[in-house]
Amino acid sequence: MPDKVLVTREIPEAGLQPLQGYDLTVLSEAPPERDELLEAARGASGVLSNVTEKIDAEFMDAAGSGLKIVANMAVGYDNVDVEAAKERGIVVTNTPGVLDETTADTAFMLLLAAARRLGESERTLRAGEWEWWGPKLFVGVDVWGKRLGIVGMGRIGQAVARRGKGFGMEILYHNRSRKEDAERELDARYMGLEELLQTADFVSIHTPLTDETQHLIGADELGKMKPTAVLVNTSRGPVVDEAALADALVNGRIFAAGLDVYEEEPKVHPKLLERENAVLAPHIGSGSQETRDRMAVLAAENIVALLSGKEPKTPVNQ
Ligand code: GLV
Repeated sequence: MPDKVLVTREIPEAGLQPLQGYDLTVLSEAPPERDELLEAARGASGVLSNVTEKIDAEFMDAAGSGLKIVANMAVGYDNVDVEAAKERGIVVTNTPGVLDETTADTAFMLLLAAARRLGESERTLRAGEWEWWGPKLFVGVDVWGKRLGIVGMGRIGQAVARRGKGFGMEILYHNRSRKEDAERELDARYMGLEELLQTADFVSIHTPLTDETQHLIGADELGKMKPTAVLVNTSRGPVVDEAALADALVNGRIFAAGLDVYEEEPKVHPKLLERENAVLAPHIGSGSQETRDRMAVLAAENIVALLSGKEPKTPVNQ
């Protein structure tokens, strides 16, 4: 009997190929209801999950004692209870490395769009309300030559920093540990979070969501930023206090924000939805076909490796 493998959402075809020899269940395009998910997990040896599914103790117990691997098709794995997996001897894997450049593109796209008021000006044009070219119309702030502050200087943070360097920006960063390679290669300057917030013209967040980073950026931190500064978040919504950010945008405490992630996806704080100076994307950070293919293949290969007695490529809890 082939092992049972559950894929919690429709994924790119490339990721289904390596799984063809298994007893494969692929749920629908939309996130499954909790009951459907638990039911579908029963008896699975491997699960290919997505960020929309809460893979907690209840899920693992519903799958049963045969569950050996949860392969999350994302670099972030805050949706998976890694402790509960460890207690049950379940390996958890993620998809690091294959999405860095694409996610960095998204961060830079939001940074540029927020700085130059693309969302607001495009909405005006499409509404048929663009009347004339104007010397004072939709003027934003420059990106080139400014200071880019990276919070979380991992692979994605460094990929954003490289883009900033290409735009002639000065790179500042804050991270748990110093990154001497980045300091050498990008002339990046290490700073405490407070100093970075006070100094940077653009702040881009690239930390994982953990107990320590929950609401890392709240009212106090936003209060330290320059009134001309732009905040970009492509990491996880709860790293930023969304209500505090909405207030900072309403009060002109900062110039603009570019967001790809939210505290309670797919809900977005109503005040943010009203703000012209918020550029809002629906969690599309890694959303290029090439990268989604690579993520799906890597997640599937981790399952195949583990179920055939080999080491998975990218475990998070070993
Ligand atoms: C997407 O959000 C990811 O973590 O890869």
